[in-house]
Amino acid sequence: MCGLVGYVGERPALPIVLEGLRRMEYRGYDSAGVAVIVDGKLQWAKKKGRLEVLEAELQTVDWPSGVGIGHSRWASHGEPSDINAHPHSDCNGHFMIVHNGIIENFRELRAELEAKGHRFSSQTDTEVVPHLVEELYAGNLEQAFLGAVKRLRGAFALILVSDLHPDRVLAYRQSSPLVVGLGDNGNFVASDIPALLPYTREVYLLEDGELAVVTAHEVRVMADGKEVEKEVFHVDWDPLAAEKGGYEHFMLKEIHEQPQAVLATAAAYLNENSVNLAELGLTEQAARSMQKLTIVACGTSYHAGLVGKYVIEDLARLPVEVDIASEFRYRKPVLKEGDIVLVISQSGETADTLAALREAKRLGARVWAITNVLGSSVAREADAVLPTFAGPEIAVASTKAYTTQLVVLTLIAIHLAQLRGTASNEELAALVAAVHNLPALLEEPLQQQDRLQQLAKTLTTHEDIFFIGRGLDFAGSLEAALKLKEISYIHAEALAAGELKHGTLALITQGTPVVCLLTQSQLREKMESSIEEVAARGGEIFLFDTMGDGELERLANWRLPLSPVHPVLGPVLAIIPLQMLAYFVALERGCDVDKPRNLAKSVTIE
Ligand code: AGP
Repeated sequence: MCGLVGYVGERPALPIVLEGLRRMEYRGYDSAGVAVIVDGKLQWAKKKGRLEVLEAELQTVDWPSGVGIGHSRWASHGEPSDINAHPHSDCNGHFMIVHNGIIENFRELRAELEAKGHRFSSQTDTEVVPHLVEELYAGNLEQAFLGAVKRLRGAFALILVSDLHPDRVLAYRQSSPLVVGLGDNGNFVASDIPALLPYTREVYLLEDGELAVVTAHEVRVMADGKEVEKEVFHVDWDPLAAEKGGYEHFMLKEIHEQPQAVLATAAAYLNENSVNLAELGLTEQAARSMQKLTIVACGTSYHAGLVGKYVIEDLARLPVEVDIASEFRYRKPVLKEGDIVLVISQSGETADTLAALREAKRLGARVWAITNVLGSSVAREADAVLPTFAGPEIAVASTKAYTTQLVVLTLIAIHLAQLRGTASNEELAALVAAVHNLPALLEEPLQQQDRLQQLAKTLTTHEDIFFIGRGLDFAGSLEAALKLKEISYIHAEALAAGELKHGTLALITQGTPVVCLLTQSQLREKMESSIEEVAARGGEIFLFDTMGDGELERLANWRLPLSPVHPVLGPVLAIIPLQMLAYFVALERGCDVDKPRNLAKSVTIE
């Protein structure tokens, strides 16, 4: 997720663009850049690092002009660097673009353009756009821009500036947000509302397929070649609320971002019906000779690894060990040259996980990494990196990073199963189709917000709440319990449902709240027995299931039925309402939801 800003007007563009980027640093901050038309020529600067690094670079420039664009980056393709920072330009520096999103077909477009003599300088997907505009330009900027975007596949918001048409910027939206700000002595474009608030609260919210032509005194919006009448939206948020997209907390915003985050992550690795994990460089022979896979992580990422274990062992018939990173590095792990270790880390800076990565490499292992931060230490030190495309996760409690990690782990399982020949093409195609359909399914539990908020009110006085599940639902219950305990400070314990009778059942008495997860139909009968064990001792059952029938109503005091989903993806769907439940319980208890006591977003010390 990146921040985009554009301005055309009577005031100097540079300070407006920089202030806009500053107000959207939560969207991405591993590099930043600007382009301004000065005396009819495009001037630009772009730097790796936070916005201050770029501002230091611009201390001495004198760019008074009123046309400019800017970008703050959250790297997806191409690690953070000066050259990969936006804006990106064509061969001759007449067209400059800033972009948010993913261009899925950039490799084939780049090959086509290079074959025509275009010279590329970055590793980004974005850079194909200005070269496409250059290739198509014949005097009409709008036509060339529209022709270029029609060649793109994926999700993208783009702002274009050109010194051949120095009175305007063009903006195009396809599945990534863009808003146009209507000012008195100038007009604005941005990827998010906070960038506009110092100047205007009157905006156009662009829809997919819309092109905005923005000049100092006019904004025209086109769709399918025709001008459209846009309704002015008045923004009444305060700046802080706007940074959270109108949500009260970053955590709630990030819970709601999960369909988009899962879509963007799946799109990065999925073709129509196959998985592209070429980054791993795994041959069929190497995959077939793998004896085991070791997964190492902390906290929520560790819980994702546990889900990964079940899925990879099920599909790829490959033994998987999952280690807590702080344990791994001191237990003298048994690894030999060439073994594969997969580290999972949202921040890519967790000290225990980084130390485990280094220990694994010292022992001769090849290290894969799933991380949400491309420029992070984990990303730089791993041998192969599979990014999640969740965008910056600000709340301490991890949500969208977890669900996107589960998606990547599922794709790794499919990839290994294909190479090892351990699952039929039909079975794997069905799972790929289920991943394609997942983002739409994840919207459903988000509509249950009121029901979950009501349920939360009844749970705030409990000091102990239990979470149980079997198989993948046991791994999912661990994550659900962590969500509740870390933001509401209620003691939450998760256990394998089959383990109840081996001890914990002693704690179940009249009214003890027990949250039950049931997404694995093959374990339904066993899980029903565990639920009955709890009910027989007076436990209060809160059931989250994807069984799709009403037969279970009799078992639960409260039930949230979720749509049936492929069992491998059960934990992805089931965690959404449980994240929301944790959020509302914490809210009811007056806790600091985004910054829980004693915790940090990235634990960079041991
Ligand atoms: C999860 O909600 C917590 N914030 C915490 O457990 C976190 O998952 C853990 O510290 C690992 O962080 P990482 O994924 O950035 O390595």
